[in-house]
Amino acid sequence: MSCVKHVKAVARSDYAISRMTDHDLIEVVEIEESCGLSLWGWDSYHAELLRPESIMLVARRAVDSHDGQRGLGGFIAARLVAEDLHINNIGVRTEFQRMGLGGSLLTAVLSTGVVQDATAAILEVRAGNVVAQALYERHGFATISRRRNYYRQPTEDAIIMKVLIKESTAP
Ligand SMILES: CC(C)(COP(=O)(O)OP(=O)(O)OC[C@H]1O[C@@H](n2cnc3c(N)ncnc32)[C@H](O)[C@@H]1OP(=O)(O)O)[C@@H](O)C(=O)NCCC(=O)NCCS
Repeated sequence: MSCVKHVKAVARSDYAISRMTDHDLIEVVEIEESCGLSLWGWDSYHAELLRPESIMLVARRAVDSHDGQRGLGGFIAARLVAEDLHINNIGVRTEFQRMGLGGSLLTAVLSTGVVQDATAAILEVRAGNVVAQALYERHGFATISRRRNYYRQPTEDAIIMKVLIKESTAP
């Protein structure tokens, strides 16, 4: 294993993916603010957590990680709408990006979606957010459409991306 890959694997292994709880929300909002996402804020995440169709996960640092520190590395928020899993937000702390946490969160939410009978996952991303698009493409998402001037501050197109995650059982 190369040195860079080894460091990434060690850092990623310090984290476990688990369900988000309301105790996580202060950190989730902090991560959201620090990584330039559209701001939902504490109240919206809290309301989302209460919805049975939401799938909200965090990358939580293991208690016995080498420096004894705890905390969240990132989070993902998704919601089941009929057979579609809508990925609404994903963020990883800037200092822990490109270590595999975003990929782990996305893999976990897609697996949870499959267990809950989702057949496809869908999301919107800023046209200029090529980093997030690269992550999604790596997980099989492809662009299906574009919405002109969908985002504000700054105004920007949205790219709609989708991936099939399970055969539909609908007649
Ligand atoms: C998008 C984001 C969640 C990715 O999280 P991450 O933990 O850095 O992603 P990973 O380390 O798991 O990367 C997985 C893959 O995504 C792509 N990727 C991630 N960061 C990248 C970068 N800076 N440049 C190019 N590709 C990148 C690569 O294909 C990467 O695989 P590789 O490292 O083996 O090449 C993170 O960059 C982030 O929080 N960005 C700010 C918030 C945001 O834009 N969210 C998306 C809103 S739609």
